[in-house]
Amino acid sequence: MKLILWLWKKYLGPYKWKFIAGLTLVFIAAIISTIGPVVVGEIVYVLNPLNTDAFGNMDRLITFLLIWIGITFGRSIIVWIFRMLFEVFSQDATCLMRRDLYVKLHEMDFDYFSANKVGDIMALMTGDIDAVRHFAAGVLPGIFEGSAWLGLSLFMMLRMDPLLTLILLVFVPLIGFFARRLVKTVRPTFKDIRDSFSSLNSVVAENIGGNRVVKAFVREDYEIEKFQKQNLDFRKKNLASTWVWAKYLPLLDSFSASLSAVVIVVGGIFVINGRISIEDLVVFNGLLWMLAWPMRMFGWLLNDVQRCLASLEKIKEMMDVEPKIPLVEIDTTETAPVKGFVEFKNVSFHFEDDDSVAVLKNVSFATRPGETVGILGETGSGKSTMVNLISRFYDAVEGEVLVDGKNVKEWNARKLRDSISTVMQDVFLFSDTTAANIAFANTQASMEQIQYVAKIADAHGFIENLSDGYDTIVGERGTGLSGGQKQRLSLARALLKDPSILILDDTTSAVDMETEYRIQRDLQAISENKTTFIIAHRVSSVKDADLILVLNKGEIVERGNHESLMAEGGYYSTVYNDQIGQGGDENGK
Ligand SMILES: Nc1ncnc2c1ncn2[C@@H]1O[C@H](COP(=O)(O)OP(=O)(O)OP(=O)(O)O)[C@@H](O)[C@H]1O
Ligand SMILES: [Mg+2]
Repeated sequence: MKLILWLWKKYLGPYKWKFIAGLTLVFIAAIISTIGPVVVGEIVYVLNPLNTDAFGNMDRLITFLLIWIGITFGRSIIVWIFRMLFEVFSQDATCLMRRDLYVKLHEMDFDYFSANKVGDIMALMTGDIDAVRHFAAGVLPGIFEGSAWLGLSLFMMLRMDPLLTLILLVFVPLIGFFARRLVKTVRPTFKDIRDSFSSLNSVVAENIGGNRVVKAFVREDYEIEKFQKQNLDFRKKNLASTWVWAKYLPLLDSFSASLSAVVIVVGGIFVINGRISIEDLVVFNGLLWMLAWPMRMFGWLLNDVQRCLASLEKIKEMMDVEPKIPLVEIDTTETAPVKGFVEFKNVSFHFEDDDSVAVLKNVSFATRPGETVGILGETGSGKSTMVNLISRFYDAVEGEVLVDGKNVKEWNARKLRDSISTVMQDVFLFSDTTAANIAFANTQASMEQIQYVAKIADAHGFIENLSDGYDTIVGERGTGLSGGQKQRLSLARALLKDPSILILDDTTSAVDMETEYRIQRDLQAISENKTTFIIAHRVSSVKDADLILVLNKGEIVERGNHESLMAEGGYYSTVYNDQIGQGGDENGK
């Protein structure tokens, strides 16, 4: 109930007028439906030879026939209108909900995306939202419609013959009892179905993403089997739910069937006794359908309500997730741009789910605008994690990360990130034109600006050579481009932002030394006031940095510039001599 109230307040409430208009029509249609049997009663009255006052009165017969046809058509039209109204109502509500969920998705931090699978989120955005739509379009109006029918038919019946009506009501407690049991047993099955659907989605999403790997390893059969397992599970869960339902359906059906039997037997006796007329019995029987139908429908509706609740619970769960790093919590009236002083003070860090392993230990260093910091270290030593703390993608567990002397936790995350450009290690490009990909930070950027940064990133040349130049559509995740091309495109994208802090995480790992040299030379020319972080495996990438940090298992083990580190004769000088000795390995490893 709480969930439904939440749904009403947030998503259905804003469109309440459509709903109220729809409900009004539902009640009008229900009233017309109640009149139907009465008109039929009048028609039978004319046909009954016992009614000497009216028997064979053609005028009267035709009049009532016309009324009957009129209300039948009228009712159909009203039903059509309210169905449309509810459809629009449900689409409005789910459109709003979908948008809110999407906004929420963008508020989520890295932790959320590490913990949740794409398929699960997709299932939420599609299947679960559709369950809510179905609820708003059909189930909710159905409950009101059923109640109206029930109420009105009972009212009419009680007026006609209270005794016969009360005899009919003997089944109501039984129906209530079984309905409760149905709800209790069917609810968990819908949760199972929902979760199974989520897993099914995850398998598909993962396989679409990883289709190349599957093909390269010829693991199609294995993956199909994995999917089929999930597929069979989904089938099983659905059937289990149907089975619960199937147990109760005949019960509810037989109740409504018995109602007819009661009316015919008891009503028949009443007619013979002269308590009611034959016309009354016809009307009663007509109204009975209006009483029995909702009773049958309530089973279905309860079932669907449970299905919707299972989905709604998941949706609410996502809406309620509070990202640990809120985007806009801190309102900065400060308009001064970020200058680019970065300082780490005894920073330690571990990931939430794995607090036994410290990823960063006691990291301290400071740098100022215009300086370049080179970060070296074995794979897994914590380089990417370290720079992620600057943008506050994660919060330091101990110690402080300061930007312009202020703890990053005190910065408005949006403003902070807006001044930092990160070229992430795993490049992601959108399926859009190359120009649009570069201009991601500023869609208003002019072609000159785009080309300017593309030239610095040494991307201009290859972009010009693409079939449509800057208008070439890049495939999803950048398919159609080489690894080095993707890196250069994402570097151009980062530069267009003209950030105060530029972070290059292994950005030139896939380009040759010659190109890397050109890029670094051009970067230096534009990074006078910027603080630049360069993470690399190749010593040549960081050789000219003002400060070089060598990380080992999350600790800074060496620091200094090229000369001092060479003199020290530690890890740095060993790697340098190795790489230079090799004449500069392409991958620098
Ligand atoms: N989301 C995560 N959850 C848990 N552990 C993580 C997560 N991301 C990284 N790690 C762990 O943190 C450690 C440091 O990872 P990080 O990505 O910072 O290394 P790196 O120095 O950038 O390595 P590489 O040179 O390979 O890029 C690794 O041991 C890794 O397993
Ligand atoms: Mg890394």
